[in-house]
Amino acid sequence: MVVVAGALCDGGRLLAARRSAPAELAGRWELPGGKLEPGESPEEALVRELREELGVETETVERIPGEWPLKPGYVLRVWTARLLSGAPEPLEDHDELRWLARHELDSVDWLDQDRPAVAEAALRLTAA
Ligand code: CDP
Repeated sequence: MVVVAGALCDGGRLLAARRSAPAELAGRWELPGGKLEPGESPEEALVRELREELGVETETVERIPGEWPLKPGYVLRVWTARLLSGAPEPLEDHDELRWLARHELDSVDWLDQDRPAVAEAALRLTAA
């Protein structure tokens, strides 16, 4: 099973989202996303998840190479994404959002499995 997550970049900053559930992940920060639904491409799933969770319209830009294991049977794949319209709000799954500049990326406690992709996304952040 594939879980897709988005490195949403805008104005040289990356969006970090703090999970509100489940208890073992609550308070940790992640790249927002979720599981594919049947028949969806990963890119379609990511655009849907970012709409549901954040209330924004986005487009995927490029896949960050690699995949990272989650619980047994699940892997995380990450795409960079661009904001098309709206301002992200923590509608679902998160209780706080932060736009982080490259030098601020270490200021939040990322989920371990998200860290390699965050580091790769940082290299792709264009200067604001
Ligand atoms: O929203 P949906 O129920 O489809 O998925 P989710 O609960 O947001 O994510 C599914 C699983 O992927 C959870 O176990 C998350 O911890 C994990 N995940 C992750 O490790 N890193 C992310 N950036 C996004 C999800």
